[in-house]
Amino acid sequence: MKIIGTGRAHPAKVVTNAMLEGFLDTSDEWIRTRTGITERRLISSERLEDLATEASLKAIEDAGLTPADIDYIICSNVVNEYITPALSCIVQGAIGAKCACIDINGACSGFIYALDMADDRIRSGKARNILVLAAEEPTRMVDWEDRALCVLFGDGAGAVVVSGGDGLIGSRLTTQSKLDCLHYVRRLEPTPYITKEEYSAPMYMNGKEVFKTAVLSSSRDIKVLLDKAGLKPSDIKYYILHQANMRIIEAIANWLKLDLEHFPTNVERCGNTSSASIPLLLDELARSGKLQKGDKILMSAFGAGFTTGACIIEWTK
Ligand code: ACO
Repeated sequence: MKIIGTGRAHPAKVVTNAMLEGFLDTSDEWIRTRTGITERRLISSERLEDLATEASLKAIEDAGLTPADIDYIICSNVVNEYITPALSCIVQGAIGAKCACIDINGACSGFIYALDMADDRIRSGKARNILVLAAEEPTRMVDWEDRALCVLFGDGAGAVVVSGGDGLIGSRLTTQSKLDCLHYVRRLEPTPYITKEEYSAPMYMNGKEVFKTAVLSSSRDIKVLLDKAGLKPSDIKYYILHQANMRIIEAIANWLKLDLEHFPTNVERCGNTSSASIPLLLDELARSGKLQKGDKILMSAFGAGFTTGACIIEWTK
């Protein structure tokens, strides 16, 4: 497959670190030095499906197609207001497409998993133009009295359209069942027969454990992919990493012995937008003219599961 169009949508509400100081025992200095984040965009009056629809329409237009040309939609999403139907089904109706749709939950790695699935579907001849979308509102999963977590996240939606081509040089997906370092639990509706204990709780994260696992797993995925493709770290124009924390990105750049100019970021302005972070950043780079035909980019993500996903793409637009 190859990427033929990109799009993104951010919520209107900008929340700066100074605004958080107004109701949390935190400081701009703590947040900036620990995470690199200075502000984030948060859903307020919008619905996530509105952002997902806007990003999708922009990607389809950028691809020079219409919604009628899309013959499959894969949406990466962890939570939204609907448990069912899937967000992709809602977006299909909103954009006026007619194709089959599916949501996947690969946490912050979901966009890479979705791209990989799209490639399989195109290779098998089952689809020609696929909308791959990541729409996330992680700010609705955290306790807003928990200063260690709520300062980290932002909301948004990013999308790409892919079709047949030689853009995917390699990909790698891994999963290690590991519930203890990052999870979010919701109690389902009661029935007269439930005898087990159940609970709802906001997101739990062991930040230090996630930090270590993220640096190690992303570095490993990058090395495996580069070796397999016979490429050197400097052959990659941009490393588009999951935007969780500036220090994680710096640690990986350091390990690869590469200058930070190869590591574009949006975490400072958007916070951690879960699986939307990579397509949001990709669209920003594409629309600002920073990607040229023939450039190689490496995308690498990690998230709850523990999942990791990485791929090398040649920019063909
Ligand atoms: N403001 C001020 N102080 C704070 C805040 C805050 N917002 N949050 C925590 N603190 C305090 C803590 O209470 C603690 O105080 P204490 O020493 O008196 O107990 C102190 O700061 C240090 O806290 P730590 O948790 O040890 O801080 P650390 O340096 O580990 O940074 C952080 C925390 C930023 C979460 C870091 O561990 C991290 O980035 N981890 C990776 C997180 C990540 O990448 N998550 C996303 C991956 S998966 C996904 O995207 C869903």
